[in-house]
Amino acid sequence: MARSGARRHLSSTPVRSAGGVVRLTSEAYPNIVRDERFAQVTAEDVAFFKDVLGSDSALIDGVTSEAADIADDIAPFNEDWMRKYRGQGRLVLKPQTTEQVSRILAYCNDKKLAVIVLNLSRMNNVISFDEVSGVLVIDAGVILEVADQYLAERGHIFPLDLGAKGSCQVGGNLATNAGGLRLLRYGNLHGTVLGIEAVLPDGTVVDELSTLRKNNTGYDLKQLFIGAEGTIGVITKVAIQCPQRPKAVNVAFFGLESFKHARLAFREAKSQLSEILSAFELMDATSQNIVQHVTGYTRPLDGDYPFYCLVETSGSNGEHDYAKLEAFLEDVMSKEIVLDGVVAQDETQAQTLWKWREGVPEALGHVGGVYKYDVSIPLEEMYQLVEDTKARIQEAGLLNEDLADTASAAEHPVSAVVGYGHMGDSNLHLNVSTRVYDKRVEKILEPFVYEWIQKRKGSISAEHGLGVAKKAFIGYSRSDTMVKLMKQIKDLYDPNGIMNPYKYI
Ligand code: LAC
Ligand code: ZN
Repeated sequence: MARSGARRHLSSTPVRSAGGVVRLTSEAYPNIVRDERFAQVTAEDVAFFKDVLGSDSALIDGVTSEAADIADDIAPFNEDWMRKYRGQGRLVLKPQTTEQVSRILAYCNDKKLAVIVLNLSRMNNVISFDEVSGVLVIDAGVILEVADQYLAERGHIFPLDLGAKGSCQVGGNLATNAGGLRLLRYGNLHGTVLGIEAVLPDGTVVDELSTLRKNNTGYDLKQLFIGAEGTIGVITKVAIQCPQRPKAVNVAFFGLESFKHARLAFREAKSQLSEILSAFELMDATSQNIVQHVTGYTRPLDGDYPFYCLVETSGSNGEHDYAKLEAFLEDVMSKEIVLDGVVAQDETQAQTLWKWREGVPEALGHVGGVYKYDVSIPLEEMYQLVEDTKARIQEAGLLNEDLADTASAAEHPVSAVVGYGHMGDSNLHLNVSTRVYDKRVEKILEPFVYEWIQKRKGSISAEHGLGVAKKAFIGYSRSDTMVKLMKQIKDLYDPNGIMNPYKYI
């Protein structure tokens, strides 16, 4: 497998700067130079967009506006939740119809305008729902949790769930092919999405809003938009197959001696819980210490264990499912696969147990800057990556795991090497937490992590995508031929390169 021209001095995950100010992406990635072909936004452009949108409130204008607080209004659209990336966009457009999106993109394409922030929050209607087939058709700007709530009232569930559900939009979920916590049960969006409507850069509306489960008439082009990160078009509507909402959800949390035991437990969970198993998540000891350090929560189990797993079942008979989960736990404890465990007695306890898993990324963000790797590795070796990475950092003398010790930051920049993730999907999150930004850490991590994954034919990005951070490293997971085919698609759909430039491919 050929390597792409990976530029090593580009950190895959720039650590945020001291003092809480997010570094400009243009500073973190000095090699990315603004493409001369692109025009700058002018007052004339803003006037055109105002005319298209028909209302001043549908636009945040940092180009011509004199308002004192305009920069504050735009700031949230230029930053990410991890506070690692900061763009310099000066205009946010909030279209309300597909036709408006089409006119905006066609204009940008003609004028070679890139990097306009399009926010679809005003395109937030439920278009239809069929209670018999379970097919939901919605605008792309609907918030994931709102969609799920709508479905809950009708006995159904959105087939994707993730920590950010209260703020993320369904169109963005599709564009990034978000995986989330229950992919094990409901599969990924390439399977559940039945149709999309999207707008191409030249303004063409791609009406592929099929609600059919089966449609073998030609290439399945909608799949190109799922996970394309907005590089070939803007998704405006979504048709998705939604399952019946489970009547009973049960959660167990347990401690184990080794990763090998976690694998055995997963094997048993699949065999004993079979059709009701809806999540099987892994957390190592360090990840749990950090959640505790940051939140101060009481740990679910009395003892300390090297690994923890969270198992969830979703079924139609609460008592039966609970009994099954309890019997499973008893069985794996009697076989000494699991050392200790608890089963939640009610929904509140279930949610509390989930916090020990869902809360890991946020807790890490509070401790310091984080180098993040979201990888797929054949299950047998999944956790070995964390151990090998940690050993390298230790050998280099860069690790001090005492979270309270900030005095030795310069000498020991790394405070934790953490592994957690979706064990049921062989998807590991390797996170390296640092006290201060230090080039030595980056040199230890890269290209080591990528080469390690390549050797095992893994993926350097399982569910988080490529964006700007992983763009240069695609060659570790995809052959030259595949990358060439992807570039051809990009050039075909977006010949002027105005969609999400400098990223992805
Ligand atoms: C998670 C995110 C980081 O699994 O993907 O928590
Ligand atoms: Zn994840």
